[in-house]
Amino acid sequence: MNFPSHVNVPAETREEIIDLLNTLLADAIDLHWQIKQAHWNIRGTHFYSRHLLFDDLAKHARKQADDFAERAGTLGGYAEGTIRLAAKNSELPEYDLKAVESEDHLRALVDRMARYAASIRNGIQRCDELNEPITVDLLTQVLGDVELDLWFLESHLNGTGRPVARKGGREDARGEPSRTPHA
Ligand SMILES: [Fe+2]
Repeated sequence: MNFPSHVNVPAETREEIIDLLNTLLADAIDLHWQIKQAHWNIRGTHFYSRHLLFDDLAKHARKQADDFAERAGTLGGYAEGTIRLAAKNSELPEYDLKAVESEDHLRALVDRMARYAASIRNGIQRCDELNEPITVDLLTQVLGDVELDLWFLESHLNGTGRPVARKGGREDARGEPSRTPHA
């Protein structure tokens, strides 16, 4: 169901973008509650700081849901934002309900947020093809925030790694001294 709109974008284009925004709305609502699931159920290492981090990320996803819904409304669309509609329309897999340890939650959230980011990126590409710069602009801003949040999550998992040694360096990829004599 759509509403009359005076926005100067062809109706067919608006319809496609409204569908795209409603899918992202479902993803954002799903992601928001998955992050909350992690916020409530995380245990173990760095419990308190990660519990707080997850709450911040959940707030961001909630705001993004609002952005998608209101852009759909601006284009004359009906925002499909109930929990049941979101569950039906979300592209994300269900949360890892066996996750308990901190690292399990981090891996699950990195996976879901990466999928969400990829969908937004596809949306940018499609809206660009449809010559609709305002939605491109909105999605681009949101994607920058999502990728920043993804970095915050990933950095908790990647902190024990070491950079791969450059050619001629003293350490191999595992951080162990090279057995090959230097030239
Ligand atoms: Fe809380």
